Amino acid sequence: MKPKILVTRKISDIAEIHLKEKFDVTLNLKDEAIPYENLAKICNEYDGVIAASWDKFDTNFFNAMNGKLKIIASIAVGYDNIDLKSAKEKNIIITNAPNVLNDAVAETTLLLMLGAARRAYEGLTLVKSGKWKDAKVDFTNFMVGKPLTGKTLGIIGMGRIGKIVSERAKGFGMKIIYFNRKKVSSDLEAGAKYYNSVNGMMPYCDFISIHCPATPETKHILNKEAISLLPNHAIVINTSRGITLDDDALIEALKNNKIYAAGLDVFNNEPNLDSRYLELDNCFTLPHISSANNETREAMSILAVRNIEAHFDSKKYPSRVA
Ligand code: 8YV
Repeated sequence: MKPKILVTRKISDIAEIHLKEKFDVTLNLKDEAIPYENLAKICNEYDGVIAASWDKFDTNFFNAMNGKLKIIASIAVGYDNIDLKSAKEKNIIITNAPNVLNDAVAETTLLLMLGAARRAYEGLTLVKSGKWKDAKVDFTNFMVGKPLTGKTLGIIGMGRIGKIVSERAKGFGMKIIYFNRKKVSSDLEAGAKYYNSVNGMMPYCDFISIHCPATPETKHILNKEAISLLPNHAIVINTSRGITLDDDALIEALKNNKIYAAGLDVFNNEPNLDSRYLELDNCFTLPHISSANNETREAMSILAVRNIEAHFDSKKYPSRVA
């Protein structure tokens, strides 16, 4: 009998076709989120699950597992939605989808940097509202923002994504500095200056971008104190997870012009983000889309399928996390 695989949300067609060749597959044809209350009951019917980062696999979920489920292959690089310790206790393998989304996330990071620096939200709103014709257009103030060229970008987390962001930013003529738990190899560093504390780096950042995973250690890595050390022209960028930022501190700094702007793709409690962000013209926001291009989502889908195949063929997992 073929192993039974549940795919909790629509993945790429080609990955679905591939999966069906070897497995007894249940697709989510309506592509509607499976309510959390039903997830454990449904997953207990399957040997493997391909899931999105929106599905929550917490302690209660794993406690409810009856031994059938062997693997959850997540189609996301971040796995803060999965309780790894409880998964291990139930001998359930967890895999993620790293690397294939690095370029997409780096592109979104640059989009946020440009959007926040050049006041894209205000410009777009003015044009679309039909009010441009009534605006006072002058040379020194009208939609005047900040450049990237010649500025310093501080990166928190010089991993695979941080590295590509720094390469792209260099293409804009930026200087790179970084904080990481450990100084990285000179190859990965590529000339970027290392700081061994976030706070030590803050005063030198024209832009600061977060690229670390969401863990208990990185919760509020940009806290009130760190934000207070930024220069008042600084721009804060986040494509990691909302939890890495202290919302109260960031909103207060944006509101009182203690920093210049922010560009955010991720939020606490998505999609019900803190409504104070909606009122801030200097906050350029996106709805968690950093990996959202067809090529990337297809590659992420295929990677999840490969992890499932590896498990049932007893081969090496392309990207196991636990
Ligand atoms: C996910 C993400 O693709 O990879 C991650 O960690 O946050 C996104 O790229 C998206 O949330 C769907 O799982």
